[in-house]
Amino acid sequence: MDRQLTTTGKVNRKFEIRGINHIALVSSDMQRTVDFYEGVLGMPLIKTYEIGPNGRFGQHFFFDMGSSSLAFFWFPDAPASVPGVTSVSSLIGSVTAIGTMNHIALDVDADRLPEYKARLEAAGVEVSPIVHHNDVAPALGPDALEDVHESNWVSSIYFRDPDGIHVEFAGWTRLFTEADIACKAATAADAEGWSAKRDAITA
Ligand SMILES: [Fe+2]
Repeated sequence: MDRQLTTTGKVNRKFEIRGINHIALVSSDMQRTVDFYEGVLGMPLIKTYEIGPNGRFGQHFFFDMGSSSLAFFWFPDAPASVPGVTSVSSLIGSVTAIGTMNHIALDVDADRLPEYKARLEAAGVEVSPIVHHNDVAPALGPDALEDVHESNWVSSIYFRDPDGIHVEFAGWTRLFTEADIACKAATAADAEGWSAKRDAITA
């Protein structure tokens, strides 16, 4: 991907990573997954594959999402998903377990979010309000996310696929700068008492 995201000049000098080749998720019903990703989202099915002798271990299908692909496994013996653990439990999103894929964000033009929201809703998909992610904390409550602030860096809508997999349409709204990498990364040791400590900082 040669689209520029930052003005910092930082580049990967270790590996020539060209973007995502594919992300592999797990479906409970491959036909329903095809109906959603190809039928509703319009992503062409580009590869179907059955795993193991006579496909005994399941299926692996790939959809074209532009410069990369989105893949699904269907395993006849897959464990059930657990909302709030393996996938989000709400439309705007939620905590999920360590190691899970919390959500997938498909890149779109932010200016087209109103049109895309209407198109998804016409197809019967429940869609979140358009959310403008700003650097200012939403101190006024979740509704503040619906306000565009000058620090806005990405705008989004959220919805879920038939298995509850959280999907986002996201459009970057500006280039990043050094000011965008000011947060100190938390460690496992920071977890205990984190919320109370953060409340104390802003109190
Ligand atoms: Fe996101």
